[in-house]
Amino acid sequence: MGDTVLATAVEVEKLSFNPKRITIQWSDGHRSIYDAIWLRDNCPADRDSSNGQRLVDIADLPEDPAIGAVSHNSGSAVLITWRGEPKSSWFSLEWLRQHCYCDQHRLSRKRQPSVWRAGQSGELLWVEYAELVASKRAHARWLRAIVDQGIAFLRGVPCHKEQVLEIARLAGYVRETNYGRVFDVRSVPNPTNLAYSERGLGVHTDNPYRDPVPGVQILHCLEADNDGGESLFVDGMAVANELRARDPKAFEMLARVAVPFAFRDNCADLRAERRLLELGPLGDLAAVHYNSRSICPFCLPADELVPFYHAYRKFALLLRDPQLEFRVKLHNEDLVAFNNRRILHGRTAFSSGSGRWLQGCYIDWDGLLSNLALIEAKL
Ligand code: FE2
Repeated sequence: MGDTVLATAVEVEKLSFNPKRITIQWSDGHRSIYDAIWLRDNCPADRDSSNGQRLVDIADLPEDPAIGAVSHNSGSAVLITWRGEPKSSWFSLEWLRQHCYCDQHRLSRKRQPSVWRAGQSGELLWVEYAELVASKRAHARWLRAIVDQGIAFLRGVPCHKEQVLEIARLAGYVRETNYGRVFDVRSVPNPTNLAYSERGLGVHTDNPYRDPVPGVQILHCLEADNDGGESLFVDGMAVANELRARDPKAFEMLARVAVPFAFRDNCADLRAERRLLELGPLGDLAAVHYNSRSICPFCLPADELVPFYHAYRKFALLLRDPQLEFRVKLHNEDLVAFNNRRILHGRTAFSSGSGRWLQGCYIDWDGLLSNLALIEAKL
């Protein structure tokens, strides 16, 4: 083990290494360990100098790279000389600290969502459309709320047909489907989808039969109804947390077992298998898929079928819990945008002659996150 003490601008107290790894003791008490294979893979010289893209493949690298020596220059970077190959790599200490992959840093880089229940609906964001257009800060706040709380509202969006596309442009890119770039949510005779009737709809996520499932849904109220037609929203993360706390077996079942969803009309024949609760790599909730209109007969092993029904029903009952369900009346010029893989939405019934008319579209997540990152970086 070679030891080198560094006094640097980024406050390294001590740097030590062996052929397999470098250990940095930072002045704030944190300790970072960087494995040789990771350092060799991230050699800055193996990236294109103009676009930063990697020029080598993992198969181009030695199987077992070994650190021969580590030295520093000007206190802000380290030079690694590799054993057995004529190569050395400079790393900025600032970059190393930023990319520390210890448990603490990996978890802290993951932004925690702001989970809400009905009692916290007053904290959900409402922004004036004029402000959104005029102010980058308001624009960022709106996108940030869609990411963190899963939902955000606008007021004063002009009641023009397809105005929803203008809003979509402020968020990301429209996802066109068999329902078109824009869809009209209003009562029509003999609807191919119950959304296009005057019936109340229990809370659901849209289109679990599609792959990928639409990321964000935007609904613009062009004509409100004075008699019913209230909108319902439930944070699927709050429901999943509640289920996990009350019945961990039911949670595990819904997070493990996939069930089919389908939609068919004259223009489309869609089918996908989904777990109702989709977990991310760290066991956190990545998505909720729930739609009682489009879920198909289950085809599960005999010993799982009845327990699945038990779990499914528990989840469905929680979705009706008034402590979780936020009810709001959308008026003309109101618009709501929400994460369709997290926030469940529904409505109460309305009168068929009311003319209630929402115009909606879907957008993909990547564009929204990219826009938010660009705007926040500028601010
Ligand atoms: Fe829907």
